Amino acid sequence: MLPIDPTKKLSFNRCIMYGDLVIVYERYDSMKPVKVSENGVLQNRFGVFKHSNWIGKQFGSKVFSSKGGFIYLLAPTPELWTLVLSHRTQILYIADISFVVMYLEIVPGCVVLESGTGSGSLTTSLARAVAPNGHVYTFDFHEQRAASAREDFERTGLSSLVTVGVRDIQGEGFPDEFLGRADSVFLDLPQPWLAIPSVAKMLQQDGVLCAFSPCIEQVQKSCETLKTYFTDIRTFEVLLHTYEVREGNLGSWQDSDGCLGTLKSCKKRHRSTNGLENSSPQTILARRNSEARGHTGYLTFARLKCDM
Ligand SMILES: C[S@@+](CC[C@H](N)C(=O)[O-])C[C@H]1O[C@@H](n2cnc3c(N)ncnc32)[C@H](O)[C@@H]1O
Repeated sequence: MLPIDPTKKLSFNRCIMYGDLVIVYERYDSMKPVKVSENGVLQNRFGVFKHSNWIGKQFGSKVFSSKGGFIYLLAPTPELWTLVLSHRTQILYIADISFVVMYLEIVPGCVVLESGTGSGSLTTSLARAVAPNGHVYTFDFHEQRAASAREDFERTGLSSLVTVGVRDIQGEGFPDEFLGRADSVFLDLPQPWLAIPSVAKMLQQDGVLCAFSPCIEQVQKSCETLKTYFTDIRTFEVLLHTYEVREGNLGSWQDSDGCLGTLKSCKKRHRSTNGLENSSPQTILARRNSEARGHTGYLTFARLKCDM
């Protein structure tokens, strides 16, 4: 997923080769990961696509089937991977992930601890953020989930940036080898407050913790425990709205339940043959997507207290 070349540069500015993972894009709600192989063939409603025709193309290329249908071959970024990975657990999505990476102050070279690993959705973005010389140590007490996550990180090319351990973090805390070494810690556990005393020992001076919890009762319990070791404790809920923008008229865009949501329209302007700008009857409509993701969980951040 993240081709790390000898110059340690992360880039998809190279051509597709055998062994690469690509995201086959039909439309925004229809994508799937495919490993490019020598005799590989992809068959879908648009026709038959031979992998051999993809070799040497750039990520982002449009490729055609024998009957003229097309797909795009996209680079497997963490953003797209989160949308196509196999869900073995509940996962974090892009709105929460981007907020977490920013607020945990994760930059190249950081050491990040995480538990639980789950489906590795967040871990993938953490790995890219610490690359090329940082590391993510992620722990899950479920052996099979940890093994599947390891396989995924191999597949996506992230295994040199992530180590998956099997451990009961609520019961045992993080391993002593990380004492005072972590720049930041992320918890997505049912009872995160049980792991907080251990997190306080693992963080470097000024380190930041984030705990994700779906219920406010969990947040309250975490905040109570956090007060002993942490300062600057804040809780956020990130809500994401997506919009669909298209040309048309209002009548063509009634939802089946009659709800239009937030709808804005403006006349499209265009240049006529005499060079003057005119208003045309075409209208651009923008509608808030009714499928927008609502509540996922609360993100509680806190910074380690310095008692000196
Ligand atoms: C909701 S999932 C994490 C999803 C992950 N954040 C993602 O984005 O894919 C929670 C995970 O925590 C793990 N877990 C629960 N209790 C645990 C514990 N005491 N120690 C370690 N892992 C635990 C579960 O096995 C599960 O895989």
